[in-house]
Amino acid sequence: MRQLTSERKGLLATNFYNLETLHGVLAAAKETNQPVVLQLTSSSIDYMGLHTAVELARTGLKEFGVEGWIHLDHGSSVELAQSCLDVGFDSVMIDGSELAFEENIRITREVVKRAQAYNANVEAELGYVAKLGQSHEAQVFTQAEEAKVFVEETGVDALAVAIGTAHGFYKKEPQLQFNLLKDIHATVDTILVLHGGSGVPEEQLRKAITLGICKVNLATEIKNIFIKTLQATLNGEEIDLRKIFPVATHSVTQLVKEKLLVVQNN
Ligand code: 13P
Ligand code: ZN
Ligand code: NA
Repeated sequence: MRQLTSERKGLLATNFYNLETLHGVLAAAKETNQPVVLQLTSSSIDYMGLHTAVELARTGLKEFGVEGWIHLDHGSSVELAQSCLDVGFDSVMIDGSELAFEENIRITREVVKRAQAYNANVEAELGYVAKLGQSHEAQVFTQAEEAKVFVEETGVDALAVAIGTAHGFYKKEPQLQFNLLKDIHATVDTILVLHGGSGVPEEQLRKAITLGICKVNLATEIKNIFIKTLQATLNGEEIDLRKIFPVATHSVTQLVKEKLLVVQNN
C-alpha cells in the first residue's frame, strides 16, 4: 500500500452488505483491472455472520481474479478487531475517534500490537468524521501536530483524517480543507484515509489524492444505487430474484467502475 502512496494514486475501499453488492464491486474491479479494499462494518458482520462475510469476500476475490484486501471498517473495540484478525482480515480499523486522545492512543496501540502477530495492517481515526445522519457540525478537524504524535506513539499503518467530509450524503457540497490536508501529509508519515467518500465531487476527490490521500472509503452511494435500482426494477410480475438482483448488482458495478477510474487515474 505504501507504494501506491508514492505513485499518488488512490485505493478505493468499498463497503459491501450482501452477495450482490460484493459481486457488483468485484465485477467493477475486474473490468477495470484495479485492486479494491472490501470493507465490513460491525453491522454488516452482524447481518451476514463473520465467517460467512469473510468467506464470501475471500472466495469472491479468487473467483473474480481481483487483487484486494478484506478490512474491518470502524471497529469499535479491541475484541471485534481481534475476532476479525482471527478469521483472516488483512487489516482492521480501530475507531477511537470519540475517545480522549490518550485513550485513543492506548486502544490503537493494543490493536497494532495484536495485528503484528497476523501481519495485518491497522487503521485508526484522529479528529472526528461525522457519522451517518449526524450534522456536519459534529466534525472535529484533524490537527497535523497531534496526528504526528498519534502515529509515532501507535505505529498505525493508516490514519483516517477529518478534513471536511462526513458519512452519508451532503446537504450542500462539501468543502475539503486542502491546506490542512497538505499540512497533515507533510507532517505525518503514514497512509492517509478519506472517510465519507459518498457525495464528494470528483474534482475534490482527485485533488485530495494529489495532496496525500491514499485510501478513499465509499459506502452510502453503493447502498443507495443498489436499493434505488431494485425499487425501479420491482414493478412487474417477475418473482425470480436471480433475474431481478443482477440489475441492481450491475448498477453497483457501473458506479464503482466510475469511482475506480477517478481514484486510480488521478
Ligand atoms: P460514505 O458512506 O459517505 O461513502 O462514507 C463511507 C465510509 O467512510 C466508510 O467508512
Ligand atoms: Zn468511515
Ligand atoms: Na459522504
